[in-house]
Amino acid sequence: MARVTAGVTTSHIPAVGAAIDLGKMEEDYWAPVFKGFEFSKKWIAETKPDVIFLCYNDHASAFDLKIIPTFAIGCAEEFQPADEGWGPRKVPMVKGHPEFASHIAQSVIQDDFDLTVVNEMDVDHGLTVPMSLMFGQPDAWPVRVIPFAVNVVVYPPPSGNRCYNLGKAIRRAVDTFDEDLSVQIWGTGGMSHQLQGPRAGLINKEFDANFMDQLISDPAALSQVPHIEYVREAGSEGIELVMWLIMRGALDEAVDVIHRFYHVPASNTALGHLILENHA
Ligand code: DHB
Ligand code: FE
Repeated sequence: MARVTAGVTTSHIPAVGAAIDLGKMEEDYWAPVFKGFEFSKKWIAETKPDVIFLCYNDHASAFDLKIIPTFAIGCAEEFQPADEGWGPRKVPMVKGHPEFASHIAQSVIQDDFDLTVVNEMDVDHGLTVPMSLMFGQPDAWPVRVIPFAVNVVVYPPPSGNRCYNLGKAIRRAVDTFDEDLSVQIWGTGGMSHQLQGPRAGLINKEFDANFMDQLISDPAALSQVPHIEYVREAGSEGIELVMWLIMRGALDEAVDVIHRFYHVPASNTALGHLILENHA
C-alpha cells in the first residue's frame, strides 16, 4: 500500500527561485538561506520518496478571478512551469501520477471535502521554488508530484481547521491506495509576510516560532486559530500558513522533528522550513 513517510514545509519565495536560477546562491544575502536546506537535500536524496503530494497556492498563474477553486487537485500526466511575467523558470516539467491523484480525489470527495479536479494546469513559484530548494537543479525531478492548489489569495480562504481535517482525509486516501509508494506531503508558503499596503514588509518572529512549536506539538489547538488572527499577526500573506496544517493533518499525532530552520528576512518574507516524520 501507499504510505505517508514524511511531511515537509517550506516558504516558496519567488526571489529564492531567481537566486537559484541566476547563480546567486553563494552571495552574502542568499548563502544563509541555502545553508538551511543543505541537510534537507541530503535527507531527501537518501529517503527517495516516490510521490510528493504538494500543497501550494497558485498566485493568479493557473487561475484568475474567473474561477476560484478553494482546493484543486492536479490529475494530469504533467504540469509545465508557469510564466509569471518573466517567462517560465527553466526547471524541469513536473510529472504527475494521474491514477493516484484520481484515487485521492475519489476518496477525499467521498469523505465530504469538495475538490476541483484539474486536468490541465501550469504550476508557479508556489510549487517550483520548494522543489528547487529540496532537489537543487536536476535535469529531471526525481519524483512524481501531485499538485494541490489551495486558494489563499482571493477571499474567502479556507480555515485552518478545514485544512487540518482535509490533511486527515488525504492521509486516509493515501493509506488506501494499492501501490507500494513512499509518499511525502508538503505544505508551502508563509511564514509571516505582507506584500502590500502600509504594513508591507511585516515580519513577526514570535508568531512564527510559536506557530512552528504548536504545529509540531499541538496541531489540533493551532487549527482553531481564526483567519483574522493570521492576518493581524502574520500579515495578509501569512495566511499561506494554513497549508502547513494540511501537511500536519496527514501525519500521526506524535511526530519527530528531523529538521527545523528559520531565517529572516528573505525578500519580504520570514522563511521557515520543517521536516517531520511520524514518531518512530
Ligand atoms: C514573496 C513571497 C511570496 O510568498 C509570494 O508568493 C510572492 C512574493 C516575497 O517575499 O517577495
Ligand atoms: Fe506566496
